Formats: sequence, C-alpha cells, structure tokens
Amino acid sequence: MNMHKYEKWWMLFGSGTLLIFLIVVGVSAFYMGSTPPYCATTLDPENVREHDSFQELGLKQLDDNEYSLTILASAFDYDVGNPEKVIEIPKGASVSIYATTTDVIHGFEIAGTNANMMLEPGYVSTNRYTFKNAGEYTLLCNEYCGVGHHLMAATIKVVE
Ligand code: CUA
Repeated sequence: MNMHKYEKWWMLFGSGTLLIFLIVVGVSAFYMGSTPPYCATTLDPENVREHDSFQELGLKQLDDNEYSLTILASAFDYDVGNPEKVIEIPKGASVSIYATTTDVIHGFEIAGTNANMMLEPGYVSTNRYTFKNAGEYTLLCNEYCGVGHHLMAATIKVVE
C-alpha cells in the first residue's frame, strides 16, 4: 500500500496525541489519585435533614489524617454545622466531602482548588481533597440558583 508522506505524518500525529492524552489521564488517575466527583448515593430529597448521613454537619475526624466534611446546601445557604459558616481544617488533611441539596441544583466549589462538584436533589455528591496549603478558601456556589445565589458562601480555614 502506498501512503503519502503527509498522511503518515498525520497518522503519527494523531496516534501521538492520543497516547499523550492517555498518559496524562493515567498518571493523574493512578499516580496522583485524582478522581471525578461521584454521586451514586441517593436519598429522598424531601427529607434530607432527617437523613442519618446529614445529622452531623461540618468536619469530623475519622483517622490520623482522615476527615469527612458534610455540607448541606439550600437556597441560599451552605449549612456547615455552625452559624459562623467557618470550617477549620488542619493543613495536609485528606478530606472526603459529602454534600447534597434540599431544593434546587447548586454548584459546590472551593475557590482555588479542584474541589468542584454539582449538587443535585436526591443525590449525595462525594469528592476527596487534600488541603496542602494553609490559608483561607471560600466555598461558593457556581451554578445560578436564584436571587440569593451570590449569598451562598462559607469559609474554609486551613491551619498549620
Ligand atoms: Cu446555589 Cu447558586
């Protein structure tokens, strides 16, 4: 079979970019442990506040450096378990985040990190994030959810 040299270059370029893409995805998934947000757990959106998993909101220590962070979103508020809306997390902590919404869709985002997931009624969204740098982060809503959308915020303080 006779192939034009440009055709060969183009095939090489195509296979090369595919290979680079697979390496990037493979390294970030298997070596750096990056996983997409997960939302296979379902619950009754009408009674979220009565649900066992959402009785204790906020940060909870599970092990040496393992924490869970449970947050309930509603229009137009993030309930993090305290009226000050401040969550203190030790630097380097590995945090499993569990969140859901009692009403409409909200966009859970901790600005400046890749902890970013959509909260849908009836689903518990889960993500994992390690806070490597100390400082103050803002938990905000990045999905327009109504007139008070801009009011949805909480503060995450990563302390030494
Ligand atoms: Cu909640 Cu925008």
